Amino acid sequence: MILVGGTASKGLTRRLAQIMNVEIADVIIKRFPDQEVYIRIMSKLADKDVVIVQTTHPDENLFELLVLQETVRAQKPRSMTTIIPYFGYGRQDRAFNEGEVVTASMVAKMIQRTTHRVILVDPHKEYITDFFDIPVRSLTAVKPLSERLKDLKPDLILAPDIGAYPRVKKVAEVIGCQSDHLDKHRINGETVEMEDKELKVDGKIVAIVDDIISTGGTMAAAIKQLKSQGAKAVYAACTHGLFIGGAIEKLTAAGCERVIATDTLEGQFSFVSVASIIAEELQGKAPKGGAKLSKDAPGTFDE
Ligand code: R5P
Repeated sequence: MILVGGTASKGLTRRLAQIMNVEIADVIIKRFPDQEVYIRIMSKLADKDVVIVQTTHPDENLFELLVLQETVRAQKPRSMTTIIPYFGYGRQDRAFNEGEVVTASMVAKMIQRTTHRVILVDPHKEYITDFFDIPVRSLTAVKPLSERLKDLKPDLILAPDIGAYPRVKKVAEVIGCQSDHLDKHRINGETVEMEDKELKVDGKIVAIVDDIISTGGTMAAAIKQLKSQGAKAVYAACTHGLFIGGAIEKLTAAGCERVIATDTLEGQFSFVSVASIIAEELQGKAPKGGAKLSKDAPGTFDE
């Protein structure tokens, strides 16, 4: 097996290579002055099992992945697995209004064109795997995130909305503490409203866990409610930390003590790595229950 790391997932690729003790391919990725991408793979990949690791956000990283896949394919590898730590466009998972397309599905179709199988980490909705017609596996960062949060000794793990609650329940089970959820209503991309709820958090340590922190609006609203009810410390944790605009300032102003994200999006808050769960999957050690693997053996590429 040999890894090919895209620009968006260099650190994760390194950590994965270390855990699995496998080689990272020598790849030149550059941008021309007009920002078009240039890729050249120096390593020999013919007849090898190639694993590409690349988050597909923002768009330039999605396009880089497509060029990477094509460049790998030109060398005729034995198999190609595409790991997408953060699947961009995952929140456009259905047509919300007339005149829209399901962009997440469109992106899945683009990616599957040139790979044998796909591995996602905490896609925004599980049914995103159904947008692929090739073998696809969805992994969850619950274990590494829980291990990190356990050190902070939380009394309660809170979901900002009911959609995030199944993951939160699992985190609380691993840690061995209580869980609950708030009820969020999204007004638009930047504004959310949180219903008032009595949470009995006076003097307690609470970790709010969501799949994504984007503008920070959801977390900030939840943190404010917890602080107003006397929570001693509030932590904000997520798998995918986009931290758009002033998200961190918003969280801090709301009273957040610490922000924790994984390396599906690499940045200053990527305190948790998902390398171990990806390695388990690649080494065939991952638990099979729950996750979907539609077909087993990789097929051959259409020429
Ligand atoms: C929404 O369904 C997601 O799970 C997150 O709650 C949302 O994407 C967070 O966005 P923001 O940080 O902009 O409130």
